[in-house]
Amino acid sequence: MSEKGDILRKQSEYLSPAITTYYEEPLVVDRGEGMHVWDLDGNRYLDFFGGILTISVGHCNPKVTDRICEQVKKLQHISTLYVNVPQAELAERLAKITPGRLSRSFFTNSGTEADEMAVLVAQMYTGRQEVVALRYSYSGRSMLAMSLTANSGYRLGGTHIAGIKHAHSPYCYRCAFGKEYPNCDLECAQDIEELIQTTTSGQIAAFIAEPIQGVGGFITPPKEYFQVAVEIIRKYGGVFICDEVQTGFGRTGEKWFGIEHWGVEPDIITCAKGLANGTPIGATITVPEIAEAWKGLTISTFGGNPVSMAAALATLDVIEEEDLPNNCKVVGDHLRAGLEELQEKYSIIGDVRGMGLMQALEIVKENKAPAPDLVLRIFEETKKRSLLIGKGGLYGNVIRIAPPMTASKADVDEALDILDQALAALGEESQVA
Ligand SMILES: Cc1ncc(COP(=O)(O)O)c(C=O)c1O
Repeated sequence: MSEKGDILRKQSEYLSPAITTYYEEPLVVDRGEGMHVWDLDGNRYLDFFGGILTISVGHCNPKVTDRICEQVKKLQHISTLYVNVPQAELAERLAKITPGRLSRSFFTNSGTEADEMAVLVAQMYTGRQEVVALRYSYSGRSMLAMSLTANSGYRLGGTHIAGIKHAHSPYCYRCAFGKEYPNCDLECAQDIEELIQTTTSGQIAAFIAEPIQGVGGFITPPKEYFQVAVEIIRKYGGVFICDEVQTGFGRTGEKWFGIEHWGVEPDIITCAKGLANGTPIGATITVPEIAEAWKGLTISTFGGNPVSMAAALATLDVIEEEDLPNNCKVVGDHLRAGLEELQEKYSIIGDVRGMGLMQALEIVKENKAPAPDLVLRIFEETKKRSLLIGKGGLYGNVIRIAPPMTASKADVDEALDILDQALAALGEESQVA
């Protein structure tokens, strides 16, 4: 049996069947460098999903790897019970780049934990329990995070935590109110008031939302959405938790954080994924008065881990030195223009949306019917041509494109060319009947 065959056998015999993988034959990824990964047979792939928007500055970026190695040799682990240098340095750095008065960080290992921490501290601060989240959202895989998540595929085991109400998503392509922006009076945002008045005690702790809904399929709200929504939330005493797990650190272009495009200052920001370029990390960052509302003991064994902290500091250095937020804007605009050209050619592309290097194609059949089967075929066709892309959306019919933020226009042209070939390979099915 080939080495690949042997590894796939071990995967299917010894790993939990809960793990789902892309592609008919899962890809065994062996190594990565910059924009590329290689499989066990030595085939090279252009990576336009970056380990789910986590490889911010390229695979195994030498500047990040060197910092990790230096730190591993010096101090690998100590727990939150002791102070460590890179943790304090990273907290200061985050306080400088986050908007407004956000300045107190609590580090964990994942986005799930970052969101858990945010909700809990919001509840302690407000003395209230109920939370408003958004339909089509994703918060992670703990019981609370699954209850916040509004995508039945990821809400396993039913509703675990009560008191979470889901407002309509600002999903213009499938507007819940059948309206069209800008003649909609932002009904999705206005409706939050009735949601609070009718489904809660009227006393809410928080609103948690992603500036662009990632797993939901890069659902990008109208620019005024957050101003209207957050004003209502604050009127009812809630704080605004902004989940920047996918949108953070320049990906949406020009700004450090996605929410900065929408003209609202969050009370809490959560981040993970791209902050440390693939080293496990989560961060919950808030203003002093909310941080101080924390009552009781808490530890995180691996939170603030010096190696993760060093990796994050090095990642932020690269983002700053190479002005990657600007690169995301310039290269992202180029990507967007190319995707819109593909939309003109292939009518199954119902919607193109996103910002910066976070762009999506919603694949549909007649009357906008979701076409997850076609997405699977596009996946196989792009894999054959050595391009990795991501999937998303409630119906699994959205292609997510999010390369490392170091991507160049030439990388984008190569990806667009492969996507074009993959769509052409669908033949007649690339057109809505
Ligand atoms: C917006 C958002 N929040 C939270 C999470 C959970 O992060 P993690 O998988 O690190 O627990 C994710 C993961 O995809 C996410 O996209």
